[in-house]
Amino acid sequence: MKPPSKRPTTTGSGARALKTRIKKKSGLKNSSRRWLERHLNDPYVHRSKMEGYRARSAYKLIEIDDRHHILKKGQRVIDLGAAPGGWCQVAVGRVGSSDDDKRVVGIDYLEMDQLPGVTLLQMDFLDDDAPARLMEALGGSPDVVLSDMAAPTTGHRRTDHIRTMHLCEVAADFAISVLKPGGHFLAKTFQGGTENDLLDRLKKNFKSVHHVKPPASRDESVELYLLARDFKGRAAEPAEAPEDQS
Ligand SMILES: C[S@@+](CC[C@H](N)C(=O)[O-])C[C@H]1O[C@@H](n2cnc3c(N)ncnc32)[C@H](O)[C@@H]1O
Repeated sequence: MKPPSKRPTTTGSGARALKTRIKKKSGLKNSSRRWLERHLNDPYVHRSKMEGYRARSAYKLIEIDDRHHILKKGQRVIDLGAAPGGWCQVAVGRVGSSDDDKRVVGIDYLEMDQLPGVTLLQMDFLDDDAPARLMEALGGSPDVVLSDMAAPTTGHRRTDHIRTMHLCEVAADFAISVLKPGGHFLAKTFQGGTENDLLDRLKKNFKSVHHVKPPASRDESVELYLLARDFKGRAAEPAEAPEDQS
């Protein structure tokens, strides 16, 4: 097995990066100044610019996949909450998707620039017809369902938490209803946030379920990923009892 990816510590030029500081008199609020300083000094941000990824989050998927090997050549992938497209870019490279044979479908309600090898749907994944539209665009069952969806932050931590967990649950239901047997589901969740009901459901449907925190996910962030591997197939879940017609 390859060693786990390490956090980059330089800009990649070999030289130690100088720390950029924003002056206190910049007119920015303290929280915005700190965010900007962290962004400007983040080695993943520098690396994503050099390597042509649209977002530093691409490295989260790269690190998870380098370690857990969920993406393979020839697979079909659905990426939920795809904007600006970092995960799609990684998936395209790893499954070998191209414009002649598109194997990656991404969905986001935000507009995204087109990406080679990807079919993009601009719509809310929570819309009733989103699952059917995704399946139609993919043209076959997915081997992997990815979800990096996060609800827009309201500033109220508990509310943000509940809304993102809801997205994770709907994504899990979708994955269970469409994945190929042997397929995998990877989704963003929060520390302490995965409800037992969801974990139980995933454990019933996948051979292994665990949480992963890639090095690219900031230590101070409560973000965590749920990785459910080897979907057992739809027969794993007992069919609902038919309604009593009498
Ligand atoms: C952290 S970003 C994803 C970054 C992406 N993985 C990348 O590497 O570029 C989360 C995305 O989820 C999207 N999102 C949140 N709720 C959504 C929903 N209900 N339907 C579609 N997209 C949603 C947001 O618009 C946002 O673009």
